[in-house]
Amino acid sequence: MTHCITCSAPVNIAVIKYWGKSDEALLLPANSSVSVTLHQDQLQAQTTVAASHHFEKDRIWLNGQEQCINNPRIQNVIREIKRRARKQKTDSRDIAAERLNWKIHICSKNNFPTAAGLASSAAGYACLVYALKCLYKLEGDVSAIARCGSGSACRSVHGGFVVWDKGQRLDGSDSMARQIQPHTHWPDLRVLILVVNEQKKHTGSTEGMQVTMATSQLLKERIRSVPDKIEQITQAIHDRDFKTFAEITMKDSNQMHACCLDTYPPISYLTDVSRRIIHLVHCFNKHRQETTVAYTFDAGPNACLFLLKKDVKKFLHLVKRFFPPKTEEQDFIRGNTKQLMENLSNDCEEDLSYFPFDPMEDSLRYIIYTTPGPGPQELPSDQSLLGEDGLPK
Ligand code: DP6
Repeated sequence: MTHCITCSAPVNIAVIKYWGKSDEALLLPANSSVSVTLHQDQLQAQTTVAASHHFEKDRIWLNGQEQCINNPRIQNVIREIKRRARKQKTDSRDIAAERLNWKIHICSKNNFPTAAGLASSAAGYACLVYALKCLYKLEGDVSAIARCGSGSACRSVHGGFVVWDKGQRLDGSDSMARQIQPHTHWPDLRVLILVVNEQKKHTGSTEGMQVTMATSQLLKERIRSVPDKIEQITQAIHDRDFKTFAEITMKDSNQMHACCLDTYPPISYLTDVSRRIIHLVHCFNKHRQETTVAYTFDAGPNACLFLLKKDVKKFLHLVKRFFPPKTEEQDFIRGNTKQLMENLSNDCEEDLSYFPFDPMEDSLRYIIYTTPGPGPQELPSDQSLLGEDGLPK
């Protein structure tokens, strides 16, 4: 007998960043954070979990390669899920109970390149936890369990606009994510991800935030300022107040990266291309005499931009003008591009004297055009990544 479940889960991008832990083992954050879940049509992890009394040991395959299942974070997630499932079993006799003693096979892949440096671990862990939740028929919120895989993964358990409350309890049981608005709340909000052409390996976020926590005075100041910012951005999201949302988002990203520079030795995730994108956004906003585009950067050089639907064409035109692809690549702009590509260069003429810099050719690999999106979903069995034999298809 084999039980098999396939699920998908989204990527999220923080607008109030998580940077620093108060507990390394439990992955408890030094501050609460806020994120926007991105649409799975463009960015998604897909995971199949199977439990069978035929399986001899637990196994995991990620993007086609078998990995060591003994990774402590994967083990933490499996242990926590099973612990919760056993507890639930004593409350009500559960048909899924026998599955808890069977070995499991896990197979996961992303619909976007892992190497692009987009929060793939958040989507991956959220997907694993959601699939195990379905397999063992768990009830209730599982974001605190996703947090044990990767802190930011807890926010990918929900769609739309999400807060991760840092919580008060020492055991981390109240450090979990909750949705503040569904993805349908702000229909005009759009997201552009500018994937920077860069080969360099960056300091991972786990390690980076550890050193910042240990050495940065500025981070202490930042942590104190977060609660007010969360209150303000929550209100801005509620009111669909783009200007306030955008300004808090940009300032918070700048502050996180300032804390990285204040780290000793310093960490710098932003490159010349990232800084040029920041400059372009500010020039555009100044030229428009209003804040119409916002940027935010995680632990890498890629920019995530927020803007309203009405401004997408104009801004994309500028991006293509100042970050031209080497050749006119078909798939330079990926995602929801159908209507967008028509007349991209017509009716978009801006006064270019507002943008006092030369184009940086071939500095972007590609651009993903997307929107806020829903949370994890269970998929039909024909989308399973594992065959009848429990091995990757
Ligand atoms: C810059 O969640 O990757 O993306 O909890 O150690 O796995 P661990 O770190 P991770 O950190 C994400 C940091 C960030 C900001 C954010 O997503 O809030």
